[in-house]
Amino acid sequence: MKNNRQFTKILGVGAYVPEKVVTNDDLCKIVDTSDEWIQSRTGIRERRIARADQTTSDLCVCAARRAMENANISVGDIDLILTGTITSDTAFPSTSTFVQKKLGVKDIPCIDYNVACSGLQYGLEIARSFIESQRYKKILLICGDKLSAVTDWQDRSTCVLFGDGAGAIVLSATEKEEENSIIDILLGANGEHTEILMMPAGGSREPASEESVKGRRHFLKMSGRDVFREAVKIMGSCAQEILDRNGMSANDVDFVVTHQANWRIIDAIRERLNVPSEKVCVTIDKYGNTSASSCIIAIDSLIGSNKIVPGSKVLTVSFGAGLTWGAAILKF
Ligand code: UT7
Repeated sequence: MKNNRQFTKILGVGAYVPEKVVTNDDLCKIVDTSDEWIQSRTGIRERRIARADQTTSDLCVCAARRAMENANISVGDIDLILTGTITSDTAFPSTSTFVQKKLGVKDIPCIDYNVACSGLQYGLEIARSFIESQRYKKILLICGDKLSAVTDWQDRSTCVLFGDGAGAIVLSATEKEEENSIIDILLGANGEHTEILMMPAGGSREPASEESVKGRRHFLKMSGRDVFREAVKIMGSCAQEILDRNGMSANDVDFVVTHQANWRIIDAIRERLNVPSEKVCVTIDKYGNTSASSCIIAIDSLIGSNKIVPGSKVLTVSFGAGLTWGAAILKF
């Protein structure tokens, strides 16, 4: 083991969304809703939905390949796969092991973690700890979800909100402090709020039964107003806290990338941080809420349009089921 201090460098980012576009008008054909309601309450115009034969690991593999290509590395260079998902291919084994097989690598460790939409920030913290403790050198961090598989397409209060997608980041050890990409990470959770956003059945608390299926309890259930209120409160204070403890203001970052759950939530965070809208990335109109991948998809789109360039600083903040939350300040 080396003794020199190691830092964590973002080598490459990649994202994938399925080809199929489902518009708000398409949803009007299956539930009692309207394009006007969905757009005015959420900012969503359309979302991508995976094919029936596409699993979460398929989405993850597409994003991972793009991230590795952008990082200019091959799959053989990766020594750990870390996947944040709430819609794993099967209850077990982990989605990471399916990803490993599909990427054609063997023997490297595979870990899944479940923090819902805060997956990017939690994943960065886990990856950074592994790299800085000198256990691993190149980590493939993936956040992916096929939320359409746990969406109740008869429930208009949730089915209009979500989409499928995946994002991936290749993180590498470096001895050069100037290459360090992770300025700070702040994580938190409050188990008092487990009941306001969950899939009630299918776990040890309520194993699958005829009743659980009839009761549609294998689908995502959400108390939208409660989640909305907590999201604004938590993401606002978490973003402010990480800036404060680094002696920064939102003016010191080039972009703010929040979890894409609702345009009104994103705008409330923008107001709280007092930043102009040009600095705040919004992709929810095109993809809906894609869970943990939403921040990576947004970062990938900023890189793709040459807005994030080497040296850019990005504040990213998320919240998700649990409730969990996290913020990170990154330097590209
Ligand atoms: O990453 C996961 C985290 N999830 C979130 O962040 C979601 C947070 N919550 C939200 O974004 C919002 O609460 C929603 C978009 C889910 C709902 O917006 P809202 O302004 O809180 O609406 P509401 O739930 O208070 O419902 C208002 C009305 C209700 O009708 P009544 O009771 O006032 O007659 C609903 O039945 O809107 C009705 N409604 C709809 N109408 C048309 C609910 N869903 C729909 C719909 N189309 N799709």
